[in-house]
Amino acid sequence: GEDGYDLWLRYRPVEAAKISDYKTRSSVIVTAKSPTLDAAASELQRGLGGMLGATPPNSSTIADGAIVLVTPADNRGFAIPADLDREGFVIKSTTLDGHPVTVIAGGSDVGVLYGAFRYLKLIQTGQTTAGLDIQDAPKLDLRVLDHWDNLDGHVERGYAGTSLWDWWRLPDLVDTRYTDYARANASIGINGAVLNNVNAKADSLTEPYLKKAAAIAETLRPYGMKIYLSARFSAPMELGGLKTADPEDPAVAAWWQMKANEIYSIIPDFGGFLVKANSEGQPGPGDYKRTHAQGANMLAKALKPHGGIVMWRAFVYSEHDATDRAKQAYLEFQPSDGQFADNVLVQIKNGAIDFQPREPFHPLFGAMPKTQQMMEFQITKEYLGFATHLAYLAPMWEEALQADTFAKGKGSTVANVIDGTLDGHKLTGMAGVANIGDDRNWTGSDFDQANWYAFGRFAWNPESKSADIATDWARMTWSNDPKVVATIVPMMMGSREAVVHYMTPLGLAHLMDTGHHYGPGPWVSELGRPEWNPAYYHKADANGIGFDRTKTGSNALAQYHPAAAKPWLDPKKTDERFLLWFHHVPWDFKMKSGRPLWDELVVTYSQGVDEVSAMRKTWAGLEGQIDAARFDAVTANLTIQEREAQWWRDACLTYFQSISKRPLPAGLTLPG
Ligand code: GCU
Repeated sequence: GEDGYDLWLRYRPVEAAKISDYKTRSSVIVTAKSPTLDAAASELQRGLGGMLGATPPNSSTIADGAIVLVTPADNRGFAIPADLDREGFVIKSTTLDGHPVTVIAGGSDVGVLYGAFRYLKLIQTGQTTAGLDIQDAPKLDLRVLDHWDNLDGHVERGYAGTSLWDWWRLPDLVDTRYTDYARANASIGINGAVLNNVNAKADSLTEPYLKKAAAIAETLRPYGMKIYLSARFSAPMELGGLKTADPEDPAVAAWWQMKANEIYSIIPDFGGFLVKANSEGQPGPGDYKRTHAQGANMLAKALKPHGGIVMWRAFVYSEHDATDRAKQAYLEFQPSDGQFADNVLVQIKNGAIDFQPREPFHPLFGAMPKTQQMMEFQITKEYLGFATHLAYLAPMWEEALQADTFAKGKGSTVANVIDGTLDGHKLTGMAGVANIGDDRNWTGSDFDQANWYAFGRFAWNPESKSADIATDWARMTWSNDPKVVATIVPMMMGSREAVVHYMTPLGLAHLMDTGHHYGPGPWVSELGRPEWNPAYYHKADANGIGFDRTKTGSNALAQYHPAAAKPWLDPKKTDERFLLWFHHVPWDFKMKSGRPLWDELVVTYSQGVDEVSAMRKTWAGLEGQIDAARFDAVTANLTIQEREAQWWRDACLTYFQSISKRPLPAGLTLPG
């Protein structure tokens, strides 16, 4: 039966009517030998074999209908555009040696591999392979999955089983699944993986673990992927026996240089380090009164001779400034603009708090023009119902990427900050906190595969449209039947907004129960740190609800460019999706609907529940058009989600009602 293992690379037979047409242009595969070109050829064989019912043979001679794989090193007379990016490709219907062929040309071997996946996608999504003239290349350099995987196999915030990495038996046992992992990533252009959790153990930098990591790197290499490691800043003390990890201490710098040299002797194409420093108890340069730039640059210098890079995270907050957690990253990082080395990227979460169902864009974007900034999205849905609730995250990412920072006038979008075009940066990237584990279906649910897929597409091109991505994914994953696609895509597109509605509507955030972050807990109080308590965020009192981030409050709004902040200054004009993020407003504040805020809150929570009920019914209508195993699995999740949407609504409204002391609007009830 269907177990989801094949992801969007299912390659099931296409409609009989189309097969012979596709076949005429996929008769043989002509290519030179290299591990990456071999991967491209065998993927074409696998895909075409599955979809067209016959596996095209490999050949060294060009024939009618051949797919010819070429690179600048071996172009077979095909004129490869001189400006083709190393990872870019051209797919062209043309004539070579008098034969009609399809050329897949890459700027390098990996470009060919990406082109091969694109060719397969045409067939997977029911498009023609005649008259092709496609050229494409990734817009970002680093397209990286961050695995929050611990060395003991537990995945922090992982909801799809345990880690894929079998540290115990590596390097001797290299699970064949790593090849399928690499294929899936290459199919969407992901070219890097950070193997271990940002809350890193120094052990991952010891020789035995480096050898294990090297075995993974070897498997991923033909697929264009490099590996990276999260580095614990205090490793010189834990592993090197030094008394300090002060980045300005020459002995510390020397230790890291030695460690970098060792790493590259074991993993020659090692990508570099990801660092979480001075955040949630992790060590960092701040322990020695040094800046983030001083810490990052010291590591960057050690990696530089080997071509490695540092991804330095901006996710910092502390209990010592209890006024507004949303402000801290900007306060700590912005003054260091221009001080980071050229092989450092500052990796910034999409919003200033922490992967909430909705946050305005992070004020650091666009505020450090002399610094390479990369995006960090969270694919694993820590705050959106784990792998159980259906929430397609692409609309959230598109919203963040298309947000206007106004850093250089209108149109200075976050996408243009991170793609380097706004400030002329060379090194660019996007990271996604992976939702992958050893579950048979990889992501814990069928629909969460879409979030992995969508992340890859945005990392390839931050200007992508979430509806297009959903359409491609639905066709490849579920069916090319237009009715099925037209049912699934709108359901996906509305799903994240439904979660916002039943969890944290109108700009609310951080109402989840503590620790696990799954269910509602707006009433939770007296946690160890003030900024972990939900009341810190909702600030509900007898007068009203919401976080005043204007001048009369924390003034976090001042961290945005004035033109970006302007539409958020006045509660009456603020986009209601962000209202309570920026303002504390009275319970009877008049909303655009004409309703008082309290009523609007009730109605919006209820709307979220209704939206989930609608999703469940929509899905039920697909019975018989989807294989039973996956149909049932999704049905079960939607049943849970509907029940839990009600749980969120009822718990939050009951709690807030105990503060607002207002009746429910007519026609609505809460359970006893
Ligand atoms: C969240 C998450 C942590 C994680 C942290 C981070 O706070 O709950 O588990 O370590 O983000 O991004 O570093």
